[in-house]
Amino acid sequence: MKVNGKHYRTIWMEGHRVKMIHQNKLPFAFEIFESDDHLQTCHAIKTMIVRGAGAIGAAAGFAMAQACLEAQNQTDYQQYIRKAKAAVEATRPTAQNLFYAVKEVFEAGMQSAESAVIRAKELAAANAEEMRKIGETGNQLIQQRMNIATHCNAGWLAFVDYGSALAPVFEAKRSGKEVFVYADETRPRNQGARLTAWELHQENVPHAIIPDNANAWLMSQGKIDMMITGADRIAANGDVANKIGTLEKAIAAKEYGIPFYVAAPLSTFDFDCESGNDIIIENRSDEEVLWQEGPDKEGSFHRIRMANPGSNALNPAFDVTPAKYITGLITAHGVVSPTHADIRQLKEFL
Ligand code: MRU
Repeated sequence: MKVNGKHYRTIWMEGHRVKMIHQNKLPFAFEIFESDDHLQTCHAIKTMIVRGAGAIGAAAGFAMAQACLEAQNQTDYQQYIRKAKAAVEATRPTAQNLFYAVKEVFEAGMQSAESAVIRAKELAAANAEEMRKIGETGNQLIQQRMNIATHCNAGWLAFVDYGSALAPVFEAKRSGKEVFVYADETRPRNQGARLTAWELHQENVPHAIIPDNANAWLMSQGKIDMMITGADRIAANGDVANKIGTLEKAIAAKEYGIPFYVAAPLSTFDFDCESGNDIIIENRSDEEVLWQEGPDKEGSFHRIRMANPGSNALNPAFDVTPAKYITGLITAHGVVSPTHADIRQLKEFL
């Protein structure tokens, strides 16, 4: 990805230090957050300094690598990295990418800390390459002058580079197609309004931010030709966990005959998870619903209450879209149907 003409990845490791784009500062400021140890990287995942399934997968892998480096100075190397594994896995429950990366780097770390660092860097590099290919696959579905809707942020920032749902859009734009994107705000954390819109702006893709509840109406008016979202975990039967609000969009898309695609790398597939019923949905603090923050016209930041004082809120961060609402899964190995049979075949590429 290019930010102000300079190439960046969302997250990377230099020595023992993990560096990442500070997503909580965007779009108002572009800053790099630096983490010196695995606990700081865990904190970055929990507080969403780094967020998005692929990016937190890379962060989790790097956190394990940091833990292995730290463990070299401990009396019991293995006990230290086992404890670190539990700490990283406890940061966020839904994105499968996190658990995949932790397992891979932990196993490498049982050989040596050096192997752990190599494996974490390999996983991050492989993620960027896989997302590039997803862009190419998805672009084949996009026709000239299509209006595409997306939910949450599944662009560069949610991965190491390129993105999942947005990679086909960026590729379509680069290959000369005219596309228009509707970006849902994605309350309560506004990943669509803040991050997706920022990325589309950086790539000069024409777009509009829409309220989360405007989607079905626009579909009914023939304004949306296709919807592409990312995924945080895909079960073996094709059910997809993604940012809260995805389910209602998928139901509306089916009603209006609009293709609904989900783009994801293989590390998002949980081949051992039978169906969406088995996916753990993260519940986040009600503060995210009741309060919002942002700058005023002069640029000073404020935190303001959005809701009735004294009321509580619920904040489930994800929902599960049953496979029957999904037209196809865009992967680096082609577009596959959300069925047991097709998903099983992907396992050989992992
Ligand atoms: O912002 P998060 O980490 O809570 O949300 C995860 C996501 O990025 C979205 O669900 C996205 O659509 C999945 S693809 C990265």
